[in-house]
Amino acid sequence: MINNENVTNGFDMNQSESVKMVADMARDFAEKHIRPYVMEWDEAQIFPVETLKKMGELGLLGMLVPEEFGGAGLGYFEYSAAIQEIAKVCGSVGLSMAAHNSLCSGHIMYFGSQTQKEKWLSKLATAEWIGAWGLTEANTGSDALRMTTTAVLDGDHYIINGAKNWITHGKSCDVAVVMVRTGEKGDSKGISAIVVEKDTPGFTAGKKENKLGMRASETTEMIFDNCRVPKENLLGKEGEGFKQAMQILDGGRISIAALSLGIAKGAFIAATNYAKERHQFGQAIANFQGISFKLADMATRIEAAEMLILQAADLKNRGKKLTKESAMAKYYASEVAVAVANDAVQIFGGYGYTKDFPVEKYYRDAKLCTIGEGTSEIQKLVISREILK
Ligand code: CAA
Repeated sequence: MINNENVTNGFDMNQSESVKMVADMARDFAEKHIRPYVMEWDEAQIFPVETLKKMGELGLLGMLVPEEFGGAGLGYFEYSAAIQEIAKVCGSVGLSMAAHNSLCSGHIMYFGSQTQKEKWLSKLATAEWIGAWGLTEANTGSDALRMTTTAVLDGDHYIINGAKNWITHGKSCDVAVVMVRTGEKGDSKGISAIVVEKDTPGFTAGKKENKLGMRASETTEMIFDNCRVPKENLLGKEGEGFKQAMQILDGGRISIAALSLGIAKGAFIAATNYAKERHQFGQAIANFQGISFKLADMATRIEAAEMLILQAADLKNRGKKLTKESAMAKYYASEVAVAVANDAVQIFGGYGYTKDFPVEKYYRDAKLCTIGEGTSEIQKLVISREILK
């Protein structure tokens, strides 16, 4: 069985007790407070905000935030292990956890001033406030640099106009970090990051997407119509937003890799148990090479993905550059999640195609991981640029 004991050796020798403790706590929470509702939330596209708040009480929504700001002050090994445990049960909740922790809170934690951290980070760390992060627009997904949402300084305020798309918690967020154009279109120094609080006049949520998978994680448009935001909400300096966003994605991609791995492990465990129980031709189907070799491939890919994640997490914990390694982890783990979930459906046969068994949901949820926070193609672009530098 794929578990934390047999796949996290080598990289986290000093932290293994802490990783295990966090993983046990997240697993226990997921079994009690998420598993019973997974299909109901999925079918009705219910975003379980109260569940996120409960996770906040346990420190799961402020995992990387220093204790000084109310967070758990942990590192990427614990964070990645916790996301995996949640994603084994529900990818959507894992995705919300990732977006809140690494993107919104992460951006304020790395680039906010002491005053900004005291104002927003402490509320985000406990999930008193839910966070969102907006980079993507309708016409600029992969090509983020050409975004068109503008922020123009007018006295003590920025006036924001435009829209952000595919935003996790775009409607339910209490606070959002938004990348806006303060300079020339296409200029990497023409983008800034600004914090916008809910209820700021001119900030509303648009269409909620009706998605194939990750249906319990809210995805909406965020609209800015002459939205006036105090200029002290700028993170860092004007013009630093694009580089900040790229650095945030470097870390964020570890969490999407961990999310992918959790989905893959969930699908693998379900498929292995089923293969041992399901009898055809007078014996368990696990005895047939057609099935056992599939399980061997699934397990090998899962462990290889885990090694890439541990490598990226280790670099991140040590404050090293990880652009290539996090893109590799995200690219590989997300493709593995799709392949493993696909094999799991195949092993379940007709039952796997129904909503009575969990693998059809893993299959639907996994696909998002090859798209969100940079498609597999963008990861290959990032990896190849780093290799050829
Ligand atoms: N770290 C630091 N700086 C970086 C960097 C990194 N990882 N990557 C790029 N930069 C810098 C470059 O050095 C360059 O700086 P200069 O202009 O000073 O030389 C600048 O940023 C521009 O970089 P590029 O020339 O490489 O820009 P590009 O347009 O050719 O490519 C890209 C950039 C890698 C394709 C980038 O646009 C990208 O990652 N795209 C995918 C975006 C993505 O992942 N979107 C998902 C967001 S999720 C969301 O919004 C919704 C949600 O709720 C989660």
